[in-house]
Amino acid sequence: MTVSPESSGSPSARDAAELTAAEPAAGDLSGFEVLVGVCGGIAVYKVCSVVSQLVQRGAGVTCVMTKAATRFVKPLTFEALSGRKVLTSLWKPQFSYDPQHIKLTNSADVFLVAPATANMIGKMACGLADDTLSTLLISVDCPVLVAPAMNDRMWENKVVADNVARLRELGYHFIGPAEGWLACRSVGRGRLEEPEAIIKKVADMLAERCKSATERGKA
Ligand SMILES: Cc1cc2nc3c(=O)[nH]c(=O)nc-3n(C[C@H](O)[C@H](O)[C@H](O)COP(=O)(O)O)c2cc1C
Repeated sequence: MTVSPESSGSPSARDAAELTAAEPAAGDLSGFEVLVGVCGGIAVYKVCSVVSQLVQRGAGVTCVMTKAATRFVKPLTFEALSGRKVLTSLWKPQFSYDPQHIKLTNSADVFLVAPATANMIGKMACGLADDTLSTLLISVDCPVLVAPAMNDRMWENKVVADNVARLRELGYHFIGPAEGWLACRSVGRGRLEEPEAIIKKVADMLAERCKSATERGKA
């Protein structure tokens, strides 16, 4: 949403611009289901905006939070933004009495992991499934987009780099991390990619999935 220089000074024009920006955009993601796996990193607050904007664009969004993630932001925030229950435990049936990790992954079109911690990337690379999110991640058969965020030294750590390389090799998609100001008050590579870029990548992956399904249907 852009506001022309002439109109940006007037409060009524500014209010109108804010209102328009908050309205659902074209609704071009309706019909798609996005799973969002939220890990325990300081960048969780940016993922709130990603979830909100995906919902505004019409996507059905279900969030799954690790225990560490819930120390940064309460599940309530993601529940309010997505309009759905947030999964935090495999053992509490929050959706139905079917095994939730299977039920949820059946309907997902894209699985976004953001912020992806060094810990979760390590678990994914080793096929570990010791909590809700990691169990969902090895049950899913849709494309997975990983948006890492961590301190620059963590990102450059050889083990983390090997884990990322392995996941890339296996076909996981990555976005970021970007370079810039880090929460540890230094500058380097490790920032979560900006919400707009993450949303664009999710939308591109959904479009690609749609295209492949259509092509499969024609074959
Ligand atoms: C204030 C704070 C900020 C943190 N930020 C990050 C981060 O940005 N990236 C990361 O990989 N770990 C970060 N951690 C460490 C993770 O929270 C920790 O490794 C945790 O076990 C991750 O659990 P999860 O992968 O299950 O969410 C942070 C920890 C604290 C206390």
